[in-house]
Amino acid sequence: MFEINKRDGLARLGKVKTQHGILDTPTLLPVVNPKILTLSMDELKECGAQGLITNSYIIYKNIELKEVAEEKGVHGLLNWDGPVMTDSGTFQSHVYGEIDMQPDEILNFQKKIGVDIGTVLDVFCEPETRFEEAKKELEETQKRIEESDKNKDSILLAAPIQGGRHLDLRLKAAQMASKTGADIFPIGGVVPLMERNNFEKLAEVIIASKKGLDISRPVHLFGCGHPMLFALASFLGCDLFDSASYAKFASRDSLMFTWGTKNLDEIEEMPSEFSAAPGLTVSELKEMKKEDRQKIIAKHNLIVSFAEIRRVKQAIHDGLLWELVENRLRYSPALMKVFDILKREINWIGEFEPAYRYKTPIKTGAESNWRPLFSKLTNSFKSGDMVHPYFGKVPNHLSETYPFHPGLLQDDIEGWKMQEWNIDRVKTILDYQFGKGIGKIFTDGETELVISRKTKRLRNLLLDGQHVASLSHRRGMFILQKRGAELLHENSSNSKYRVIVNSETAEFNRKGKSVFCKFIEHIDTELKCLDECIVVNPKDELLAFGKLMIGPKEIELGQQGMAVKVRSGIETS
Ligand code: GUN
Repeated sequence: MFEINKRDGLARLGKVKTQHGILDTPTLLPVVNPKILTLSMDELKECGAQGLITNSYIIYKNIELKEVAEEKGVHGLLNWDGPVMTDSGTFQSHVYGEIDMQPDEILNFQKKIGVDIGTVLDVFCEPETRFEEAKKELEETQKRIEESDKNKDSILLAAPIQGGRHLDLRLKAAQMASKTGADIFPIGGVVPLMERNNFEKLAEVIIASKKGLDISRPVHLFGCGHPMLFALASFLGCDLFDSASYAKFASRDSLMFTWGTKNLDEIEEMPSEFSAAPGLTVSELKEMKKEDRQKIIAKHNLIVSFAEIRRVKQAIHDGLLWELVENRLRYSPALMKVFDILKREINWIGEFEPAYRYKTPIKTGAESNWRPLFSKLTNSFKSGDMVHPYFGKVPNHLSETYPFHPGLLQDDIEGWKMQEWNIDRVKTILDYQFGKGIGKIFTDGETELVISRKTKRLRNLLLDGQHVASLSHRRGMFILQKRGAELLHENSSNSKYRVIVNSETAEFNRKGKSVFCKFIEHIDTELKCLDECIVVNPKDELLAFGKLMIGPKEIELGQQGMAVKVRSGIETS
């Protein structure tokens, strides 16, 4: 039900498939209170909502709403034909204390009214709760998840991750929930952290949960509805958000922006992001009837929220999410503190880094230096004719190779020159990409460089008449061909460059079929997502070669689907 189409580190662009349509993630599910509709369904759609979340507990406890929902279903009640998720009443227990509800009672009701995604009645663990109490609450939540999972029928089940401020409990909660068949994992109990601007703890809790979660299933961040947090939360691997904030903030005249919140009282000039009522002046907005004003501000809050969701998605496409997150974190001291957490967790975050990104990376400030890419490659070459503003000396031969190729830095790299293609340049790139020595191995014999007459770009490297590798111009790196795969295989040992698959699938890979995660027995953990790799069987016989589509850590955390896009199989002669 969750298809991942693109990644940037832990962030992903995906599709959650529900009975009433698809949610393109990351996305925000606006909270709809069936008793008070701040915006109409058409307005919600216009702002960009693909799905909604509402509260099954509120519906259940209101005789009229319950009757309509039981008769027409939740979609009929809301007059919404897209995906609908419901919450279970847990949040009401956080706000009002004890509630009168049984886990099976509310699950059955959610099924009865035909929700697409229903939520377990979890136990809301407050950040203050001490370890022993939090552990007991977590055991109860886990019991309820297991029971609900057996009973979910055709709805998608959201199983909240609790554990309060205790990171070891969060990890445990995530591991236990991942053993069930739950479809979505919301991270719960975080609203108080967001209300107190404790974004450091929020980031820690997300990371601790992600470390234990089955990475193939979508993660929802409960109650996260402020656009300033979407980039960070997506960066840490959250796919879905929900919040009533757009309406709640509007009811107290607060306008949301990616850089924070501003009360209408404080606004003298209309911010450029305001497009909810084009042409409206600040004083006109201030003088409006409260009800009309609230509607316009709620609409503004949602427009800004969905605009930020689209920006995050574009950043994932471009491979520029680090840059967006860094910029967003600089808006307030409370957000700045998150940098300390990212720095502390950099090794774990680094496990998800790809071999290259679509666009050249940009440093946005001092904190960029912690990024694995910069910390690993800065001043890593002893000599070089060009001086890169980020990486220091870099051999001229790498002038068009990721991440040294100029991109936006065209005028900032001292000594950058277009280079001619020759064997030395090819060797430098191969050594950089595959490790020292591979350049020599791939060119040890009679070489031929096939260069485009029109563009003067290198196309192919041939060795003794056989195709070793082609060049990708976008990233200035090589793409393996048959002879290259054989040479890598012959000249390396242990699991280096290898994805080792079980014998069951081996013959399919030999015929050129892609490698799926479940058939992988072992993988070189130094490989990164998007690296070139070779596919072997447990006897180390070469079966195929291609591009690794996910990182080794993701395979460890239960990722499913395609792992290696096989370029070609190697048939035995
Ligand atoms: N809404 C906001 N936080 C929570 C939570 O922890 N659990 C549930 N079920 N809903 C929430």
